[in-house]
Amino acid sequence: MKHLIDVLDLTPNEIEDLINTAKEIMKEPSAYSQVCQGKKLATLFFEPSTRTRLSFEAAMYELGGHVLGFSEAASSSAAKGESVSDTVRVVSAYADIIAMRHPKEGAPLVASMYSEVPLINAGDGGHNHPTQTLTDLLTIHKEFGRLDGLTIGCCGDLKFGRTVHSLLHAMARYKNIKFVLISPEELRVPEYLRKELLIKKGLDYEETTNLESALPGLDVLYMTRVQRERFFNEQDYIRLKDSYVLTKEKMALAGPELRVLHPLPRVNEISMEVDEDPRAAYFRQAKNGKYIRMALIMKLLGVSLEGKK
Ligand code: CP
Repeated sequence: MKHLIDVLDLTPNEIEDLINTAKEIMKEPSAYSQVCQGKKLATLFFEPSTRTRLSFEAAMYELGGHVLGFSEAASSSAAKGESVSDTVRVVSAYADIIAMRHPKEGAPLVASMYSEVPLINAGDGGHNHPTQTLTDLLTIHKEFGRLDGLTIGCCGDLKFGRTVHSLLHAMARYKNIKFVLISPEELRVPEYLRKELLIKKGLDYEETTNLESALPGLDVLYMTRVQRERFFNEQDYIRLKDSYVLTKEKMALAGPELRVLHPLPRVNEISMEVDEDPRAAYFRQAKNGKYIRMALIMKLLGVSLEGKK
């Protein structure tokens, strides 16, 4: 049994296989409509979600399986004080695979130690979001045809933005990657990531507060919202929330091959007028999320198209 807690739990070869499977599913979704017949996915979401929970659920339905779960801690026995470990022990008797989101960093890792079935981290606090990263990698691969030789700008809340943390770890394993980290001083990537990943691995990176000057050199611009729910002080959030707003005028500074990604939800950091620009890839990205989660569910359940033929 294998869990997915961190994107580095998967080797680059395994990620390549998942990307290939997702692309195969996109070509002929009906061929996969029964591969998870009789299997159940539990979605345990202790924190709000639209894309991750619903794309997991859509993924399981489209594979012919069933879904159970809850979308907020208040409607589970966590509200009565039940621990994550007890919740997962019980739910793993009801489901074949679990996707879990939790506001506390490390909660899915603890849960996986008590789970009798594969458990997927669907986002833990400001830490990691591995299935978003798989979505991002699939999107970059579809848009560019490769995962190496790219300059990737990450812009916004790089301190609390878990999708950026997972993406940096994942992309650092590919060749000739350059990171441009664009954030206000107070929202720079955490020190542990700078020391343990960027510096220790000798990665090519620069940090800047200036989006406009970074834009012309980027292949990917990964925009993020300022994570209001992780701030201790509302005044700080209000002061920082509109640090970067991507507009049509700023898009004119970038090259024709640029792709703008965003894990969504967007708040104010990308102007709606940018949506019409063919370089805006964030809604394509959200759609890709369902297909890569279909591939991941199949992998962790050990089912394949061939096994059903
Ligand atoms: N990208 C993402 O995790 O979105 P949700 O919070 O809506 O799941």
